[in-house]
Amino acid sequence: MKNTVLTLLQQKQNEDKITMLTAYDYTTAAIIDECGVNSILVGDSLGMVMLGYENTLPVTMEDMIHHTAAVSRGARNAFIVADMPFMSYQASVEQAVQNAGRLIKEGGANAVKLEGGAEVCEQIRAIVNASVPVVAHLGLTPQSVNVFGGFKVQGKSREKAEKLIKDALLIQEAGACAVVLEGIPAKLAEIITKKLYIPTIGIGAGNACDGQVLVYQDMLGLTNGSAPKFVKRFADVGAVMRQGINAYINETKSGEFPSEEYTYSVSEDIIRELSGEEE
Ligand code: KIV
Repeated sequence: MKNTVLTLLQQKQNEDKITMLTAYDYTTAAIIDECGVNSILVGDSLGMVMLGYENTLPVTMEDMIHHTAAVSRGARNAFIVADMPFMSYQASVEQAVQNAGRLIKEGGANAVKLEGGAEVCEQIRAIVNASVPVVAHLGLTPQSVNVFGGFKVQGKSREKAEKLIKDALLIQEAGACAVVLEGIPAKLAEIITKKLYIPTIGIGAGNACDGQVLVYQDMLGLTNGSAPKFVKRFADVGAVMRQGINAYINETKSGEFPSEEYTYSVSEDIIRELSGEEE
């Protein structure tokens, strides 16, 4: 069954946790979708995990459309959310509506996600009025990395926590259908979750949220270096890949691969003729 804005809302009402994972390509989206994940986020984290940038800021609309279209071809039932990249919605409301429309028309997304609270409510209202569902994103919003001075937990002071609660109510009032809460204290996420009727989807925001989202490379052990505290490695796919690639190298070098099992044959008569050994 296709997941929609309505089924996600029902999940919150029924206290049935929403599962969301990122994907950026056809093959991974098909696997995630087949497993029954409720929603796939084509995150602008693709800048880091797919394109090797230091942060999400260089990601373009063309990058997002390209990867969203691939995910849409692979996923049948998941609710597909595409990130609006840095500077695709901040400069004007008109630009925001046009770019949101492109992610739906050209990328095949079911909704768009943008970062920010009060300052982007006008954009959220206009995009929703254009019939595009919007997922908001509050807390440690990676496009603001230069303002935060790094990827730091947000909402730890009373004023900052109050601002986050206010922002959550404002984006809901502007028409957002869900909100991602990233890198905030669990108790604050719990307060926000209780105050909102739209679902909250947490990443580094504790387990009181209505759902969880993770970057799939992080949770499958495909990223190098130290992961943030909130990342649980559910599998070590990186180790399995290394094992397979090393076996391929060794067997190719030794000539063991490709054995007969992986080789096409032709009749011996034809081979004799071709090598000039006719009787
Ligand atoms: O870009 C992304 O993957 C995200 C998640 C971390 C929520 O925004």
